[in-house]
Amino acid sequence: MVVEESQSVQADVRTNAHPLDPLTAAEIEQAAALCRERHPSEHMRFVSIALHEPPKAEVYAFNAESPPIRRAFIVAIERGEGTVYEGVVNLDGGSVETWEICPGVQPSPTFEEYQDADRVIRADARWQEALRRRGVTDFDKVQIDPWPAGNFGDPVEQGRRILRGISYVRDEKASNGYARPIEGVVAVVDLNAKEVLTLVDEGDAPVPTADLRYDAEAQLSLRGDLRPLEITQPDGASFSVDGHEVRWQRWRMRVSLHPREGLVLHQVGYEDDGEVRPICHRMGLSEMVVPYGDTSPGQYFKNAFDSGEIGLGRLTNALTLGCDCLGEIVYMDGVVANDAGEAQTLPNAVCLHEEDHNILWKHVDMHNDNHAEVRRSRRLVVSSWATVGNYDYGFYWYFYQDGSIEHEIKLTGIIQTMAVGDGESRPTANLVAKNLAGPIHQHFFCVRMDLDIDGAANTVYEVDTHPLPVGPDNPHANAFAPTLTPIRSESEAGRSVQSSSGRHWRIVNPGRTNAIGEPVGYTLHPGETVDMMAGEEAAVSKRAAFARKQLWVTRESPNELYAAGAYPSQSTGGDGMPAFTSGNRALENEDVVLWYVVGVNHLIRPEDFPVSPTHTCGFKLRPWGFFDTNPALDVALPEEQCTCAEGECTHGH
Ligand code: CO
Repeated sequence: MVVEESQSVQADVRTNAHPLDPLTAAEIEQAAALCRERHPSEHMRFVSIALHEPPKAEVYAFNAESPPIRRAFIVAIERGEGTVYEGVVNLDGGSVETWEICPGVQPSPTFEEYQDADRVIRADARWQEALRRRGVTDFDKVQIDPWPAGNFGDPVEQGRRILRGISYVRDEKASNGYARPIEGVVAVVDLNAKEVLTLVDEGDAPVPTADLRYDAEAQLSLRGDLRPLEITQPDGASFSVDGHEVRWQRWRMRVSLHPREGLVLHQVGYEDDGEVRPICHRMGLSEMVVPYGDTSPGQYFKNAFDSGEIGLGRLTNALTLGCDCLGEIVYMDGVVANDAGEAQTLPNAVCLHEEDHNILWKHVDMHNDNHAEVRRSRRLVVSSWATVGNYDYGFYWYFYQDGSIEHEIKLTGIIQTMAVGDGESRPTANLVAKNLAGPIHQHFFCVRMDLDIDGAANTVYEVDTHPLPVGPDNPHANAFAPTLTPIRSESEAGRSVQSSSGRHWRIVNPGRTNAIGEPVGYTLHPGETVDMMAGEEAAVSKRAAFARKQLWVTRESPNELYAAGAYPSQSTGGDGMPAFTSGNRALENEDVVLWYVVGVNHLIRPEDFPVSPTHTCGFKLRPWGFFDTNPALDVALPEEQCTCAEGECTHGH
């Protein structure tokens, strides 16, 4: 067993304190105490307390003798008044530097507000009556899911802080509530007034009767034919962790957990000939949105921005060895603030491990007695998981020995469901069981990457490959070549994928050249993508304008982190990407930020219930002339090297 060998890194122990280290428990509580001192109120609740990152210039000028001032950025809500505050606290000086009211915005609900919503819905006579009419009388056996409200222009909802609660029958604690949705009942809760503002009771469908469970206990039998598969690294993992810095092979990076974004990596670089060459200053999930495509009263409003509206990082799973992660694992804890401003440790929040990844490169030389040169690929995996209501999302960064980076998002958990009448057929929802359908939807993930390829000043080119015209220069019509189009300014920066031309993007540093005299670079390669299907007039299209393109490029600005704006809840749009690009800043040979949008169309199939098998999507970054040659030539042969030749194998494997 490898359980004893796992280590947990206490995020609080800063053996090598760095300006980008996330706030410690003590810093979080100091920040909260200073805010409470500045604004004493029994109704003050903290939505988030996170590191206020120092400007890049200060980070790079950092030396241990004169570190940048540690600051915390606070979002709080005074629930008595329903007023939102933003503050910046100087932790070194013990002072509140700014404390300002933010009018007209709604941050993520606090945990207390979710509890309030649940309570007021259950106590509402209209909700109780709507359930009784559908044959549901035992309200203790009802699960209520609070949903971000969105903004569909209803005058009654404007200026209020609202959630929409939908209900499910859940007979037992271990039941699957999503198997038994109570269709057409939506309780619109005013979180400040602590009351149900409106009860939508439209569209009756029978509550499905079967409790379709996915837990082991509910299965008739479990397969028993798998023999043990153990991953052992008798000498331990090949990476090292010092505070938040991780080193593996030539890779260097800083790993942290943010209460909103979840997993964030900083200062990703590659050591080359004694020099750590920067690749990315900061990379993490900027925003995500899951627009649903069914028009019924219980479905149309579903547009979860799981990061900005809910605070995905606060919902990070505690990972377990042998289940979530297999092998020689190092875990990193996360620390976030609760509503009261107390530090909460999220144990085993980030998983670090190595994986064998098949063949790194190989060749069998038929001119040299079939001499084979083969290298195994090993990758470093940095991952975390968050469960947001029904869905579970895994965020994986892979670092390879050939200098490439891959981001993979794993989607699993339980689909949203809706009850449908006998024989009812909807184009926008597919049946998964009797009287139970899954509404069609999409998942968009916007990953913000402040790429600094060998330094901050970079230029992004769109690369399309096309046939060349037939003529004297192309007499055999066989010629084709890439076209590089620079993205010169932000008005040109909303780009779409185009698989027919192999479209990808090349990010180069014009100020630094490789051995063949060309600028060093990295390329960004799309994986699964899809356009947003909601019409341009749809509320979600305006609020999630970022998701209508696959790549955005902007000038780096520390205030531009969130693709749908800092406060997407109940927003009407315009914030985030449209605002960031409105100044049409020049982008050539500048400090640019890439925002790449991964998109998945989720047409529901029967196999997606009662729990969806994991679906993966993502993108890759590959070196393009960043190195002078294949950087993985020096990867060593496995210790017990394979010497199979001509079908004979000396190791008996
Ligand atoms: Co889905």
